[in-house]
Amino acid sequence: MMSIPHSTSNRAATARVAVVTGGGSGIGSAISQRLGADGYTVAVLDLNGEGAEQTVKEIVAAGGQAKAYQLDVSDRAQVDQAIAAVRADAGPVGFLVTSAAVAIQEPFAEISVESWNRILAINLTGTFHCAQAVLPDMVEAGTGRVVFISSSSAQRGGPRMAHYAASKGGVIALTKTLALEYSPLGITVNNIAPSSIDTPSVRKKQEAGIVPSSEQMGKFIPAGRMGTGDDIAGACAYLCSADASFVTGQTLSVNGGSYLG
Ligand SMILES: NC(=O)c1ccc[n+]([C@@H]2O[C@H](COP(=O)([O-])OP(=O)(O)OC[C@H]3O[C@@H](n4cnc5c(N)ncnc54)[C@H](O)[C@@H]3O)[C@@H](O)[C@H]2O)c1
Repeated sequence: MMSIPHSTSNRAATARVAVVTGGGSGIGSAISQRLGADGYTVAVLDLNGEGAEQTVKEIVAAGGQAKAYQLDVSDRAQVDQAIAAVRADAGPVGFLVTSAAVAIQEPFAEISVESWNRILAINLTGTFHCAQAVLPDMVEAGTGRVVFISSSSAQRGGPRMAHYAASKGGVIALTKTLALEYSPLGITVNNIAPSSIDTPSVRKKQEAGIVPSSEQMGKFIPAGRMGTGDDIAGACAYLCSADASFVTGQTLSVNGGSYLG
């Protein structure tokens, strides 16, 4: 693991320490790399420790600062332990991006209680755990940014993904509620709703014939192509920037025009 220099200034450290969950793959990796390139110290959190280490390698190779932390976001003790480690390594957390999630296709009638609970535990309760773990740092600093990754399936429905769509709908409701509670404390809370982003998880589903090819998907997207992790990372960089200090409680749809809510 790479080491992160410890900062002596709480406010300076809070301004630049970013935690990204799901940073070991796809959108979370692209966001981690973008924030690393923008000068943030990035804590890359993922269930897949090797994926997180790979993202860290890429950030460091590009001249940035980052460290990997392996955890399951659905386990509160593991989240608290990882955030404590980030604080010890780099200082208080000023930015949180939650990209960790799982998506599976199952007809509604076949969704078991176990499957429903698992998707909700990772996608929604995991988001709750991470936000509750880092918000005290931001409250203490009087500033902070939270960006959740939701999904267009929460906006338009997601056939054969009732658990996933419901979990992401919960993330949007959580965004609005936390924005109301934390805006008076200098903290913005927003979410990005992606659609049809070319990532390893989508490619696996394409290979298995569960979702159409990128070429076919592109035909149904007004922009004429699938999105990339960098498309989401750019939106996230904006929401973390000073330019977005008056933007809170919002859902930023990054979907090439495929859903106009
Ligand atoms: N790719 C798309 O088209 C798309 C569309 C809408 C929303 N999203 C959302 O974007 C985010 C990233 O999606 P992606 O396509 O990059 O997926 P991905 O599968 O490539 O990456 C998700 C990462 O989350 C990690 N993860 C899963 N469960 C975890 C857990 N319990 N604890 C910690 N980490 C865990 C995985 O190991 C993986 O590295 C997700 O929230 C997803 O729902 C993606």
